[in-house]
Amino acid sequence: MNPPHANPESRIPTPGLVARDRVHLWHPYTQMQTAPPPLPIVRASGVYLHTEDGRRILDGISSWWVNIHGHSHPALNAALAAQAARLEHVMFAGCTHPPAVDLADKLISVLPAGITRVFYSDNGSTAAEVAVKVAVQYWINRSEPQRRTVVALHHAYHGDTVGAMSVSEDSIFTRAFAPLLFQVERAHAPYCYRCPLGLERRSCRVDCLSDLERTLARLGECAAAVIVEPMLQGAGGMIVWPREFLAGVRGLCDRFGVLLIADEVLTGFGRTGRMFACEHAEVTPDIICLSKALTAGYLPLGATCTTEAVYDAFLSDDRSRTFFHGHSFTANPLACAVALASLDLFEQDDTLARVRRLEAQLQAGFEPLRDLPIVGDVRVIGGVGAIELGDADLKGPPGGYLDEIGPQLAAAFLDRGLLLRPLGNVLYFMPPYVISEEETAWAIEQIMEVLQGVSSTPRSHPITRGPNLEGSPTGGC
Ligand SMILES: Cc1ncc(COP(=O)(O)O)c(C=O)c1O
Repeated sequence: MNPPHANPESRIPTPGLVARDRVHLWHPYTQMQTAPPPLPIVRASGVYLHTEDGRRILDGISSWWVNIHGHSHPALNAALAAQAARLEHVMFAGCTHPPAVDLADKLISVLPAGITRVFYSDNGSTAAEVAVKVAVQYWINRSEPQRRTVVALHHAYHGDTVGAMSVSEDSIFTRAFAPLLFQVERAHAPYCYRCPLGLERRSCRVDCLSDLERTLARLGECAAAVIVEPMLQGAGGMIVWPREFLAGVRGLCDRFGVLLIADEVLTGFGRTGRMFACEHAEVTPDIICLSKALTAGYLPLGATCTTEAVYDAFLSDDRSRTFFHGHSFTANPLACAVALASLDLFEQDDTLARVRRLEAQLQAGFEPLRDLPIVGDVRVIGGVGAIELGDADLKGPPGGYLDEIGPQLAAAFLDRGLLLRPLGNVLYFMPPYVISEEETAWAIEQIMEVLQGVSSTPRSHPITRGPNLEGSPTGGC
């Protein structure tokens, strides 16, 4: 028997999806009592999402930063179907399979030189969680168990599991769980618009790096690793780094003999204009975390990749040195097959050149937004354009994730057919790379018009200091 709201002809639910959703579902990062109804999406193609009631909406945030080649891509669909017909899943302890092996080969060929090992998991949080666990056990296995302190940066976001939350910024997203989190040391991030030292990028010498230097010097032989989101701190407010800071972090990790973990869950696979953000500073981390665009947005998959030196520390006749971590769906063959097909598309379509063209268009199109009184800063890197709304003097306190301007802007864009999800007072546009020049131009026009409207209307909720430490919009995405 068909469920009461299903259309047996098309299998597309008839109107009523939102009402049915309301009966049993609980959505992420959503205050279910006050949030507007979810968008009922019944299909998607290219950069567009299609709703149950016939609207076409441009996916301006790549479905939480995962989509790159467009929705429902024929080559990816075919790879998925072909793999499903051969092997849908098998556990990865004691078994292996072609998609996992082929993908590992391919990943190693594109990752920064020196990364040689791939450990699979299921999502970005677990990729970061695995990285932290590997770093801590690495030192135990090397008979330096006192090295167990992780250094993270302010405004960081590494996920929502307990370990990933611990190394993320203390914020509204983590505060309720504070008793569960382990202690980490935090150092300045190069947030140039709100420089922690009050300097100007034009004349500074990335002086903010000295905070990390002091922290590592103080920790001495207790420091295990430094974890960073290279070049672009995403959920913390789309903070774009000077490449010198990343190079400096690598230099300090070498000098103090600690591991560098690069969380490229957001930045990996072209998002910053290079295959991996570490390439901007020609840096090879000891451990690199991947997820999101790894499967082009099709299926959950995480990978934590390491150098041979890190892997070697786990080799022993003593079984207690084993890395005791795994998930039921580790190395899921369907996800690995799609990830492989996605990497093929990078070559066939010259995807990175496409991202560079998008970057040039975003740079040219976003620059005029600086002139709007409501705009504090404009930041562009690769396929990401961000606008931080600030006070008229451009240096007022930030609004934080809960700034009411976020949902108001999201609603205004949705009315125009553009899906954006501001991080409080930071509005950003991060479309799938397949977006056309015309579509990008249209989206920039919508952003300009909406922000012009906001600039000319007095704000009902002034941008005031939010609840986050350091006033950062740090939080989940
Ligand atoms: C840098 C970074 N690390 C980790 C995560 C967590 O990924 P997931 O949402 O797949 O758990 C995110 C998510 O936004 C992220 O941006």
